[in-house]
Amino acid sequence: MREELSRIVTQAEEAIAGAQTVETVEELRIRYLGKKGVLTRVLRGMGSLPPAERPLVGKLANEIKVRLEADLAARISVLKEKEKERKLAAEKLDVTLPGTRPFLGSVHPLTAVRTEIEDIFLGLGFQIVEGPEVEHEYYNFEALNFPRDHPARDMQDTFFVSDEVLLRTHTSPVQVRTFEKTAPEVPVKIIAPGKVYREDDDATHSPMFNQIEGFAVDTRITLGDLKGVLHSFVRQLYGEKTRMRFRASFFPFTEPSAEVDISCVICGGHGCRVCSHTGWLEILGAGMIHPRVLEVSGYDTEKVSGFAFGMGIERIAMLKYGVDNIRLFFDNDLRFLQQF
Ligand code: PHE
Repeated sequence: MREELSRIVTQAEEAIAGAQTVETVEELRIRYLGKKGVLTRVLRGMGSLPPAERPLVGKLANEIKVRLEADLAARISVLKEKEKERKLAAEKLDVTLPGTRPFLGSVHPLTAVRTEIEDIFLGLGFQIVEGPEVEHEYYNFEALNFPRDHPARDMQDTFFVSDEVLLRTHTSPVQVRTFEKTAPEVPVKIIAPGKVYREDDDATHSPMFNQIEGFAVDTRITLGDLKGVLHSFVRQLYGEKTRMRFRASFFPFTEPSAEVDISCVICGGHGCRVCSHTGWLEILGAGMIHPRVLEVSGYDTEKVSGFAFGMGIERIAMLKYGVDNIRLFFDNDLRFLQQF
């Protein structure tokens, strides 16, 4: 019986040493030490031993049990340690490796130009105001002194929503909406950026585009103030050397009116394809606000006067970045957008 016991020990210890998982070790515990295990089965046979030997075999069996328990526990802790190492190795992280660069979008060129223009005027003391894109005919035309039969009111240029409601064709209605709220208070110094709509569609015109309106009302505002503000603006946007000129023009809501040109940003004024060899580029419309526009909103034109100007953001951006087709701004082709 002793021999059998020592064989069992050898066998068990071999099996335990070879176990690769905690589960296998638990199975071995049951196989050797469980209620129906090998050891128990051998000890059942003790009855056939001479009485004198029984205590010795019993003691031996106990020692074996303790020994195997220890072997099992040791094996389990070895396996757990191995498992921990394996996990650690799998989770190993080289913190010195360069990270994966996150995909960053870029600011749309029109947004960039709009922000740049806004920042310049904020620096000149203007405040930003926005108005509705779906506008009443009164604000878009009537209050801006457009005669009833003015061609710009024609269905050809304007997207009408209903008889008197339309998509604004310019940002100038924000002047009237602002004056209604501010009159008779002065000073007023506002820029109004936003989308406008015209039934127009070619390489330099899109049915939807963006404008920035600017206007100021105060006591003693003169054409000199308008020139000063605009010259400061174009020098900040296009560089100190940029020259500017006013060409007489006409808008129903300004008097006098002007179209403002800057020296060509491409050739510096020598003449090139972009400026049609004139050396000049038209960038905005401007003028002194027509007294009628101020009066309908409640200003006393004996006491106050104002100037206004309006420019297309796409046109400014096309000149700034040398883009020759306005479509490119709206196609959302990443090959185009990623260049900014
Ligand atoms: N609203 C005019 C346009 O869209 C531009 C403009 C604004 C002209 C303000 C003069 C004063 O063409």
